[in-house]
Amino acid sequence: MARKKVSVAITGAAGNIGYALLPRLASGEIFGPDTEVELRLLEITPALPALEGTVMEMNDCAFPLLTNIVVTDDANVAFDGINWGLLVGAKPRGKGMLRGDLILGNGPIFTGQGAALNRADSDARVLVVGNPANTNALIAMNHSDLANDRFAALTRLDENRAKSQLAAKAGVPVTAVTNMTIWGNHSATQYPDAENAMINGQPVFDVISDHDWLRSEFITKVQKRGAEIIQARGKSSAMSAANAALDHVMSFEARTPTGDWFSAAVPSDGSYGIEEGLMFSFPVRSTGRGNYSIVQDLNISDFAQEKINATEAELKEEKATVAGAGLL
Ligand code: NAD
Ligand code: LMR
Repeated sequence: MARKKVSVAITGAAGNIGYALLPRLASGEIFGPDTEVELRLLEITPALPALEGTVMEMNDCAFPLLTNIVVTDDANVAFDGINWGLLVGAKPRGKGMLRGDLILGNGPIFTGQGAALNRADSDARVLVVGNPANTNALIAMNHSDLANDRFAALTRLDENRAKSQLAAKAGVPVTAVTNMTIWGNHSATQYPDAENAMINGQPVFDVISDHDWLRSEFITKVQKRGAEIIQARGKSSAMSAANAALDHVMSFEARTPTGDWFSAAVPSDGSYGIEEGLMFSFPVRSTGRGNYSIVQDLNISDFAQEKINATEAELKEEKATVAGAGLL
């Protein structure tokens, strides 16, 4: 059988998330045992020596499928011919900060990188991880000639956090939790939707009798989990963030199992009344052939609608901020 090849760019590759991403991308776990992997690593110039150290370690892993590693501080080189762009490189927030506080510091990174993404394969997929992820993805999309539907921002970490909380509360394995939607922004306004989620094929509200918990503590726990981790670790999530980014890649590469969906922030097409073009987390299904659709006709209660309105309002504000700073 002819072997396949995939070329993946990772920005901020010398950082914490980069360190957790690289070995898993090269091992064959993500694209399969028949797919050769090229890694194109982008860093700012002062971080190149540290990145060389990471590359030495990658070489010392002797991954059979890893055919080439490119190290560069030039986004045009990093994105040349890639199939996937994982845009991680950006400052993380510290204790007491909101992700939105990073907007004017990190936003400018995504103007030049958006333009450099014109060098990617026209079917490439781009995942923005660097915070504030939704609005950074909006900036990159606006500066690139790639089709809008090639861009997404990471809310899979929030989905995984929500599934883990629901599974623990119900006393079931995490695999029993499906149909988990994160609506909106990867921020403290996001709405993790237990009303449409399932446990072992049953509505969550039928399985978990503590409805007060589902409508309050569960939601705030997921919304504030990033801050809780920063408080405990002194730095932001990296292992779980890398894991979620790779789950996102695998979900877009595969056909979504019938009846299920996953969450990703993608450009709104007006579904559920969300302003068109906003980078908004929706329930999505992948065809497994490079395309996806937003799941339609989910039941949105008054409670949910209020939360969805709040997260949409925050994203509109972020958009106005970056537009005002000339970043769109
Ligand atoms: P880190 O500080 O360890 O690493 C970031 C790396 O990016 C550094 O090596 C830095 O040199 C590099 N970098 C900065 N500007 C760059 C540029 N213009 N081009 C290329 N590289 C550049 O941070 P980290 O822990 O790896 O986190 C990275 C980002 O991901 C942060 O913004 C963080 O908040 C975000 N994050 C998002 C999620 C999510 O779910 N969306 C989860 C965790 C972290
Ligand atoms: C997370 O959710 O863990 C990341 O976005 C990091 C952060 O700032 O919370």
